[in-house]
Amino acid sequence: MDLGLADKHALVLGASQGLGLATARALLAEGACVTLSARSPERLSAARDALPAEHRIRCFLAPADLADADAPRRIIDAALLNGPVDILVNNTGGPPPGLPSVTSADDVAIQFDRMVKPVLALTIELVKGMRERQWGRILTIASSGVVQPIPHLPVSNALRSTLVGFMKTLAGEVAPDGVTVNVLLPGRIATARTETLDAAAAQRSGRSVADIGRESAATIPAGRYGTVEEFGAVAAFLAGVPAGYVTGSLVRVDGGAIRSV
Ligand SMILES: NC(=O)c1ccc[n+]([C@@H]2O[C@H](COP(=O)([O-])OP(=O)(O)OC[C@H]3O[C@@H](n4cnc5c(N)ncnc54)[C@H](OP(=O)(O)O)[C@@H]3O)[C@@H](O)[C@H]2O)c1
Repeated sequence: MDLGLADKHALVLGASQGLGLATARALLAEGACVTLSARSPERLSAARDALPAEHRIRCFLAPADLADADAPRRIIDAALLNGPVDILVNNTGGPPPGLPSVTSADDVAIQFDRMVKPVLALTIELVKGMRERQWGRILTIASSGVVQPIPHLPVSNALRSTLVGFMKTLAGEVAPDGVTVNVLLPGRIATARTETLDAAAAQRSGRSVADIGRESAATIPAGRYGTVEEFGAVAAFLAGVPAGYVTGSLVRVDGGAIRSV
């Protein structure tokens, strides 16, 4: 299937590794130009250097820390040097685990400024051009925790639900302008983030990381963690022309882990 992405430019946040990088790679493989953003210029450069030469020439970098108040403006200015942004992939680092009863409101506010505020600023600014051009795609990487809250990740469950509420509302407003807005819900995809969370669970329980991983995989109907390639393929499809009638959706990439319909 031709996803019609050859003349499109995507801005992907959190793109130096994991789900963001896999999404960027899938978009590049479909012929899109992609601007990658994350904090570390070194990790971004390494990610670009590892691409096939024919993809590398369509790949640009816009390093910034989303915790900085001026990051959205700097990322947008850098991305627009590579052309109008047709596709925005919102993605951030995840918050640390902990019990809700010992989470402070300040912890939530700090993460809000990294995970929500810059995402809203980028989305609100970039959707303007998409509407003018009558085509756009906004994808937000959230978590299965917005449907089935994950124990020990209260800040993630709370803040990603905020993004879902905003994106669903935006989807209704901009649908007449050819702009779709969808949220991806990864369950357990094998990345540095899942390794960190499994290591934290192992420390809490006094068991080995391997045991935690096995136990966790056994709770997933598919019986395993997903791969970043499986995730990137779904994201690329939603970014493509053929997905023009999919909007306002929460799309699960979870091997069946969420038990509700
Ligand atoms: N993997 C899963 O199964 C899963 C499941 C549910 C939810 N999620 C969530 O989905 C998101 C991506 O997951 P992942 O597994 O790919 O995570 P990851 O491997 O930790 O990657 C996070 C990306 O975000 C960037 N980043 C982190 N903090 C940033 C900041 N302050 N400003 C700008 N960029 C920042 C990182 O690069 P730098 O460090 O260079 O900035 C990296 O590129 C995370 O929020 C994660 O919690 C993942």
